[in-house]
Amino acid sequence: MQTQKLFEKIQLGNIELENRIIMAPMTRARAGKEMIANDLMAEYYNQRASAGLIITEASAISEEAIGWNEAPGAFTEEQMRGWKKTVDAVHAQNGKIFLQLWHCGRASHSSFHPKSGLSVSASAIAINEEYIHTPTGKQAHEVPRALELDEIKRIVNDYAQAAKRAIETGFDGVEIHGANGYLIDQFSQSTSNIRTDAYGGSIENRSRFLFEIVDAVCKTIDSKKVGIRISPNGIYNGMGSKDFRELFLYVAKNLNQYNLAYLHVMDGLGFGFHDLGEPMTLKEFKNVFKGLVIGNVGYTKESAEDAISNGDADMIAFGRPFISNPDLVERFKNNLELNPEAPMNLWYCPGKEGYTDWQNHQDIVAVS
Ligand SMILES: Cc1cc2nc3c(=O)[nH]c(=O)nc-3n(C[C@H](O)[C@H](O)[C@H](O)COP(=O)(O)O)c2cc1C
Repeated sequence: MQTQKLFEKIQLGNIELENRIIMAPMTRARAGKEMIANDLMAEYYNQRASAGLIITEASAISEEAIGWNEAPGAFTEEQMRGWKKTVDAVHAQNGKIFLQLWHCGRASHSSFHPKSGLSVSASAIAINEEYIHTPTGKQAHEVPRALELDEIKRIVNDYAQAAKRAIETGFDGVEIHGANGYLIDQFSQSTSNIRTDAYGGSIENRSRFLFEIVDAVCKTIDSKKVGIRISPNGIYNGMGSKDFRELFLYVAKNLNQYNLAYLHVMDGLGFGFHDLGEPMTLKEFKNVFKGLVIGNVGYTKESAEDAISNGDADMIAFGRPFISNPDLVERFKNNLELNPEAPMNLWYCPGKEGYTDWQNHQDIVAVS
């Protein structure tokens, strides 16, 4: 099969991407207890800098936002100095990199943030899943505290300030994490939002939080440096809204008022999906969203090429393939075999193993 589109350059705001193969954001939990992006992480991202764009692993925008052991933060100067090493390491290879901005909301536990106590969410509804990994081991999910109106304003500003820090640190842009059942998704979807104020009820009200964040971030940094990720079909973290199609089409359509870098849609079903209706497709989003669309979940080189050639997406993000193939772009380009997928026990463990020790194709050729 002729692959062409994947390797075409594309203009993303003011930057030009070398190709349309995007590295999906992936939490790898190598930042230590201090949550500071370190040299090992810089090496990991440097190895993958031939991606058209790297979207970093999710990074907490505040202490309250934390919800994953040893994931990096983006709320202190020290954390941003740590991230600078990664930014420089990617730029040294002529790569491009966006920082993913994260607030876990109820997908957290009070032991993550002893100062602020209980996790927060749109409503006091716990995730209906077995347990969460916390600094004190596996724990049952807690019922979060519903946010007060003034706190919502403060969190919106936390996103904007994190975006500002990212740009000051040299990131090419930021991705607002509106997917996978984290705080923004918790507001948008009816399964986790039963508020009766301006942030609950109708689709317009439930997506108000998302739009306030997009608005604040776009007023703080250039909107062409802002992307947003959504997971309309996802079930992760107890998601699924009966009106998911109407909700996410409303979101996509109304994002047109901002001149965003892109809309990143997890359309594929390989990461778990709700069965509340026919899954949403990239085409549906392309029909309403006027900007660039990134598709993701379960794509191969062939299906990615098809999606772009058919006009369903402009770029495709790859997650797991980038874990075990730092040189994924070169492998795709030269029709080389991919390394086997990384076992899950290496996804979040500390150290180099399963992280920076994957062979690239030149090493394989050299030893064979
Ligand atoms: C180890 C791991 C960590 C992930 N962490 C994040 C994350 O921090 N933010 C996010 O939006 N998605 C995260 N995801 C989801 C990926 O971005 C992607 O959607 C998923 O891997 C499906 O794409 P793939 O089929 O190409 O792997 C993660 C996935 C994996 C495997």
